[in-house]
Amino acid sequence: MGKILETFEAMHARSKAYADRARHVFPSGVTHDARAFAPWPIYVERAAGGRKWDVDGNQYVDYIGGHGALLLGHNRPEVMEAIRAALERGTHFGSSHDLEVEWGEQVLKMVPCGERVRFTSSGTEATMMALRLARAFTGRERVVKLAEHFHGWHDLVVGRLRPDDPHPHSPGVPEGFYDSLTIVEPGDAGALGEALAGRDVAAMILEPTGAHWGTEPLAREYLQEARRLTAETGTLLVMDEVITGFRMAPGGCQERWGVTPDLSSHAKILAGGLPGGCVTGRAEVISMLEIRDEDAEWNSKRRVSHQGTYNANPAAAAAGLTALRLIETQGECERADATTAALVRGLNALFRELSVPGSAWCVSSMWHLNLGYEAPIPEDLKWDAREAPRGVLPALARPLRWALFNHGVDLMGNGGMVSSAHGPAEVDATVGAFRAAVGDLRAEGLLG
Ligand SMILES: Cc1ncc(COP(=O)(O)O)c(C=O)c1O
Repeated sequence: MGKILETFEAMHARSKAYADRARHVFPSGVTHDARAFAPWPIYVERAAGGRKWDVDGNQYVDYIGGHGALLLGHNRPEVMEAIRAALERGTHFGSSHDLEVEWGEQVLKMVPCGERVRFTSSGTEATMMALRLARAFTGRERVVKLAEHFHGWHDLVVGRLRPDDPHPHSPGVPEGFYDSLTIVEPGDAGALGEALAGRDVAAMILEPTGAHWGTEPLAREYLQEARRLTAETGTLLVMDEVITGFRMAPGGCQERWGVTPDLSSHAKILAGGLPGGCVTGRAEVISMLEIRDEDAEWNSKRRVSHQGTYNANPAAAAAGLTALRLIETQGECERADATTAALVRGLNALFRELSVPGSAWCVSSMWHLNLGYEAPIPEDLKWDAREAPRGVLPALARPLRWALFNHGVDLMGNGGMVSSAHGPAEVDATVGAFRAAVGDLRAEGLLG
């Protein structure tokens, strides 16, 4: 065993004890695929701002940020206070309530395409609802999605589906389910045009900045072209803003990049760190959910039904409403972006100084890493090279995470999400951790 792993194991004995128990409870010992980690995951005890602490007392700069939900960082006082106040009034009324109205109004105020909104309990439910609404509205069945783009785990969008696979497939989903799905290579406007030409596509869904929160970046020009082609063919454009919404700007990617979809799906930041999602967009599409008292034919044959015990839960509504108001008025997105820019510049300066084959880049407050490959260092933060970014060399991925854990940084994948609570101290700590990690990796002959 190398020194890096030895250190990780020595520093995480109490986490190991939980992991040993968890293995007998959960498949792979975890409750989310992305949390599976070898030799075992860290178990976190508490968090604050841009940091978190594990059960062994180790402190980390946190780049997971609640899987992207925490643009304001952990435990923002105003949000915590709103949650406390809501809990005092009750956890669940099973009835309409005041906060859901204010939360919904706030969403419509902030999201450019938003004319009506329906809350769900997660992002997965939001994309599922968006596609169902699009099918009901257009009377078409086919859906176009982009290869590798992630929209949750419901039947239609699940699986690693590349266009060159002979047939899209995910275990547990009936084969016939995919008959109405077309997968197109991201960035190829010609292929998209062909897929939509038959005018039989209900919706095209995409992650606006590219697959896996922009790990495989998508150009703004492609998004504009997708908007043009979908409008031309009567296809609804569904922007999945579960990650980018309320992060890239108060109105999300659609505001920042100036492309307005027909529908957008949201979750994460939307609910201020508690569970929640929504679909918003054109009134005539969302109104497919409307119950019409005098129209039995509509209610039974045309209307899309929707239930959900935790839709617009009062505590989530309180957290979400407070978070969105802060984001609208307090420059939170800009602050997170500025910190991310400082971090990316700091990492690239470090890689140059140490002649590390790698680079960092970002879109808004989402940053990514290439490591172990000779990759060009972006001129100005964003990925502007002709070739696709390559990520972290697979053989390096785990040792890098171990080394960074040892030096107090928790990445999300090959990069991370920055919050408005991160600042110069977190940037310095992260660059310092990378400096130490590079030394460790080189000492074990893992990095050139
Ligand atoms: C772009 C995107 N869409 C949908 C989802 C699913 O959201 P949830 O995990 O709330 O079901 C995610 C989750 O990470 C996501 O990143």
